[in-house]
Amino acid sequence: MQNTLIIDGKAISAAIKEEVREQAAELKTQHGIVPGLAFLLVGENPASQSYVRSKERACEYCGFHSSTVTMPASASEREILARIDAWNIDPDIHGILVQLPLPDHVNEDCVIEAISPRKDVDGFHPVNVGKLVIGQEAFLPCTPAGIQELLIRSGIETAGKHVVVVGRSNIVGKPIANILLQKTAGANAVVTVTHSAAEDIGLYTRMADILIVATGRVNTVTAGMVKDGVVVIDVGINRVEDASRERGYRIVGDVDFEGVRERASAITPVPGGVGPMTIAMLMKNTFRSAERSAAGR
Ligand code: GUN
Repeated sequence: MQNTLIIDGKAISAAIKEEVREQAAELKTQHGIVPGLAFLLVGENPASQSYVRSKERACEYCGFHSSTVTMPASASEREILARIDAWNIDPDIHGILVQLPLPDHVNEDCVIEAISPRKDVDGFHPVNVGKLVIGQEAFLPCTPAGIQELLIRSGIETAGKHVVVVGRSNIVGKPIANILLQKTAGANAVVTVTHSAAEDIGLYTRMADILIVATGRVNTVTAGMVKDGVVVIDVGINRVEDASRERGYRIVGDVDFEGVRERASAITPVPGGVGPMTIAMLMKNTFRSAERSAAGR
């Protein structure tokens, strides 16, 4: 298609962080409250360390207070739960983020359930998941919330449109399907979820007005698998070998960008599409939590 819109997630996330920064300054002036976000990092996974550093930088930019506790990979579940309990009752902390994955000997479900749903800015607690499904106000997980925000801010109508989600993870596939299914503005879509058990994923993707791909697999969707005019949201972040790059690899999504962009009316690039939105939505969730505490709710 000519004039395919390349959705600029970097610019949209920068605009959101700027809005949050202004709102946070106002909250401080009017109520003396500084949003506080606590990070727990267990072990020495370099990707997790880098994610937490980026989130700390975003806190600094938005004028939030942040506190990071690091524990060795040998930390016991009991130590982790004790840390969370302390943050749950700390009035200066409005959001708690336990960076995943956790070491194998720690039960992630137990850890997530220990976080107060009121401070669960990742939106992973079963209470928030349940509220999302039944349409009650809840913290939405940051990546799917970021996808909805990208669609809204790019002027892409979802009401009555056929959204096809490829992938059924708890972090992206399932929540984005539930978000876009809600009978609200920025949603109200007809949603299909397809996944690795489907015999032919193309059968479903070709029916999509809006295609959201979150499989973690390079080239999950190629040009022959979409219809003309489709809107494509690519959630993948994959490393592929590339000898022409100094570091020996480049980052690509789950969609064959060059092939699919020819047919799409709009598409997110990787990097610079969905990726930057996750942290922006984390800042938004944390601000909302602080604002709610200011209102005594
Ligand atoms: N690990 C990878 N993505 C995420 C995320 O969104 N939140 C947390 N807590 N851990 C992650």
